[in-house]
Amino acid sequence: MHGFSEIYEMIVVETVDKLRAFLAAARAEGKSVGLVPTMGALHEGHASLVQRSVAENDVTVVSVFVNPTQFNDKGDLERYPRTLDADCALLSSLGANYVFAPSVEEVYPEPDTRVFDFAPLDKVMEGVYRPGHFNGVAQIVSKLFMYVEPDRAYFGEKDFQQLAIIREMVRQLGFKLQVVGCPIVREKDGLALSSRNTLLTPEQRITALAISKTLFASLDYAKLHTLTETKQMVEQAIAGTEGLELEYYEVVDGNTLQPVASWDDTDYIVGCITVYCGKVRLIDNIRYK
Ligand code: PAF
Repeated sequence: MHGFSEIYEMIVVETVDKLRAFLAAARAEGKSVGLVPTMGALHEGHASLVQRSVAENDVTVVSVFVNPTQFNDKGDLERYPRTLDADCALLSSLGANYVFAPSVEEVYPEPDTRVFDFAPLDKVMEGVYRPGHFNGVAQIVSKLFMYVEPDRAYFGEKDFQQLAIIREMVRQLGFKLQVVGCPIVREKDGLALSSRNTLLTPEQRITALAISKTLFASLDYAKLHTLTETKQMVEQAIAGTEGLELEYYEVVDGNTLQPVASWDDTDYIVGCITVYCGKVRLIDNIRYK
């Protein structure tokens, strides 16, 4: 008896044609395919998505692509961390099968002029502060769905609005796949993991902690206070923290993403926050019910 341990090889693919050829072969063998779309600079949050895909599918594809069409701020696009070698090392250790890391020209040989409308989901929060952002997300995610044709696609709940919009896009365009939302992964001290955290100075990293701390504190506060009072408590706590600048805090119906006025309005209520810590834009959210 040979004690062969499975020799595992992850393949990095840069072109759509090659990716399609690999996946056609996998599918011909009846294999299921999971897709984890990312912009790289991977952390434990991404790792949890990949682990889930590896557990639930025969083949896992992870895309690593900093999608220019979803950045409405050129500086933000330029600053976005790019760490492909480290990303590949992590993905290989997690058991991903294919990393799709295309160039911008490969994905957008000509400008993508498609315009999506996800009203009312894209007319609030990020949709207001990052005009065009979700259109860009829909452009890239729909392209990835067309290239990969996954059985399941995995997204983090930290980008709560993005997840709702991708579900709506799948419904509108009739993609035959399951969108799997995965819980936020946090540092031990509560900070939600984000690729942007690497852009924080050590001091900013400490300051940024006030975001998750305030959200957690608001859960208890909400038990004894109205929704309006709870919203004010969060807004004041962030405004009162030196080094943080609140962009918005909205308490919304988790399905429609429309603001709710009272805890009794619906049975699914989520608080979504965006805060600048210096130039770094951080988002987080918390479920009240
Ligand atoms: O959430 C992200 O990292 C990006 O918006 C996504 C879904 C990979 C599309 O570029």
